[in-house]
Amino acid sequence: RLGVQRAAVWGMAARGDGLARLVSAPWRGEPYGIYARLREGAGVRRSATGLTVVASHALCSKLLRDRTFGVRTTDGAEPPPFTASGLPGDVEVIPSLLELDPPDHTRLRALARPAFSPAKIAGYRSGVENATARLLERALAEDRFDLVADFAAPLPIAVISDLLGIPDVDADVFARYGRVLGASLDGVKSVRHALQVRTANRELRALFTRLIAERRADPGEDVISALAASDELTEVELATTCELLLLAGFETTTNLIGNAVWSFATNPDQWDRLRGDDTLLGPAVEEVLRYEAPVQMTARISHRDTEISGVPVAENSMVIALIGSAGRDPAAFEQPDEFDIGRARDNDHLAFSSGAHYCVGAPLARLEGEVALRALTEALPRITVAAKPKWRSTSVIRGPRSLWLRP
Ligand code: HEM
Repeated sequence: RLGVQRAAVWGMAARGDGLARLVSAPWRGEPYGIYARLREGAGVRRSATGLTVVASHALCSKLLRDRTFGVRTTDGAEPPPFTASGLPGDVEVIPSLLELDPPDHTRLRALARPAFSPAKIAGYRSGVENATARLLERALAEDRFDLVADFAAPLPIAVISDLLGIPDVDADVFARYGRVLGASLDGVKSVRHALQVRTANRELRALFTRLIAERRADPGEDVISALAASDELTEVELATTCELLLLAGFETTTNLIGNAVWSFATNPDQWDRLRGDDTLLGPAVEEVLRYEAPVQMTARISHRDTEISGVPVAENSMVIALIGSAGRDPAAFEQPDEFDIGRARDNDHLAFSSGAHYCVGAPLARLEGEVALRALTEALPRITVAAKPKWRSTSVIRGPRSLWLRP
């Protein structure tokens, strides 16, 4: 859906909508000056073409919890799902959790949630620690390494492979196609890329269909077995849910780690503070999520004519919540442009969204963030950046595309 909403906003920008252009600009560097302007006044803007953008913490939080809004239109006009390449011969793609409203959303979410219960999360810890140690050892053996390609990207893939019980022989296929589909969140840029996306969709669907059949016959302790045990999911729903777990947990967590290291590299006093105090690991992850949210925005569709702080919003029109702006709102956080890992524990950022679609994988993302930061504090007394980082060229997903470090 991230791709769909960006495509819709780009379309508006191309038709001359200044507000759409502002929120879809590939900032690469800093979107925060633009956010500050959008927060002025009531924190809500509406463009001539009917796009509404909310930028303040209070309005973003309210919108995400408001049942007047959903993620689908009431008239059945649906945008194409973001995993499709748009080419003939794509696998059947149905809306995932992210793209559903109740009652389907409620049913699917209830099935996905047990995989992220506190007991399950505690059980994943040693797997995350092992994958972290293995990747870091290899990276640190070099004179320079790319934190993103060598560590932040492979880690979530390794973790989710473990969770889903992807056999070693399939792990490379899984990682390769996960990367192709993850990159499609940046936009499908050429026919060649569209073909790669189509192949990735097909291969992943074939892999999951096979694994689901195998786990039905011979269940294990993994998430696919747990999902496959339910009678409430169709085959395609099952495969789609597995695909979402891969996609939703990959680019996001990669950018959490990339953003964390960049934030500490540019605030070395905070790195010293973290290295001296393990109890700051949890708050540090929260602070990164607030300061540099990996998912900068999401969208909702109004289910009836309504208003936001006096701005009229017609049924079936789109409202964008600028999550990254909410984290920098001075009405919600003191000195919001400062990176301070000592903030109070109730760091009320919206990086995992809020309300019905609150990130199911948040406990896993937090675990990965903490384990990664702990290992990095042990390995790197200081963060030495070897080359100016390149940033992703999207306005939805924020983080460095590459970040070269010297051990
Ligand atoms: C939903 C962010 C990691 C699985 C979401 C949403 C956000 C988000 C903002 C909701 C979007 C909306 O409200 O429209 C993040 C961030 C992560 C992260 C910043 C890492 C730092 C993960 C992981 C997994 C995961 C590791 C699973 C392995 C999901 C799922 C949903 C979701 C399944 C859909 C929930 C629903 O629609 O009910 N995430 N996520 N996420 N996330 Fe995450």
